[in-house]
Amino acid sequence: MLFIKSSALAVLALAASVSAQMNHTYFTNPVGEGQVYTAGDNTTFSWQLKCVSPNIYISSNPSKVSVELVNSTNSNNAYFLAEITTIDCTQNQGNTNWVIPAKYGDGTSLFSLKMVFDRGNTAYSGRFTIPLLPANPAVLALSPLSSLALLQ
Ligand SMILES: *[C@@H]1O[C@H](CO)[C@@H](O)[C@H](O)[C@H]1NC(C)=O
Ligand SMILES: *[C@@H]1O[C@H](CO)[C@@H](O)[C@H](O)[C@H]1NC(C)=O
Ligand SMILES: *[C@@H]1O[C@H](CO)[C@@H](O)[C@H](O)[C@H]1NC(C)=O
Repeated sequence: MLFIKSSALAVLALAASVSAQMNHTYFTNPVGEGQVYTAGDNTTFSWQLKCVSPNIYISSNPSKVSVELVNSTNSNNAYFLAEITTIDCTQNQGNTNWVIPAKYGDGTSLFSLKMVFDRGNTAYSGRFTIPLLPANPAVLALSPLSSLALLQ
């Protein structure tokens, strides 16, 4: 039996034992607060752990678990805005593509992603903001797609 001598090692050991206890599918990105996503961007979120037994959040349709965009400005009263995609959590982890919906970007609201399992179980990502898109058409004209169109 090894003795843990430094407090840093003790913290690492604690972190390892906490993550070993995770018993349901959960987001690994975005987590925490302060992430900023650009409206219209094609980006990814990440998650871990299967949604099948013995994990405790299970789905009757585990290859198509709904992921929703919610308004979590008031974290005690997050509410549904849109379904953005589904995940296949018969897998043990995933990086899933999603496109940041432009219509909700107001620069001030806080949003989260929410996975929806059977029996009312849910898992939330960290909270993020979506800045307003620039209204100036000259700025929009510089987007890669318009540049491509000009080359054709
Ligand atoms: C799942 O993990 C949490 C946190 O460690 C624990 O409180 C809970 O009892 C566990 N549930 C089951 C069914 O193992
Ligand atoms: C987003 O990017 C991924 C990976 O490059 C691609 O497979 C997917 O089709 C893209 N989605 C959209 C809506 O452009
Ligand atoms: C999000 O909810 C807040 C109130 O909690 C509201 O002021 C804001 O307009 C909402 N934003 C969106 C994009 O729904």
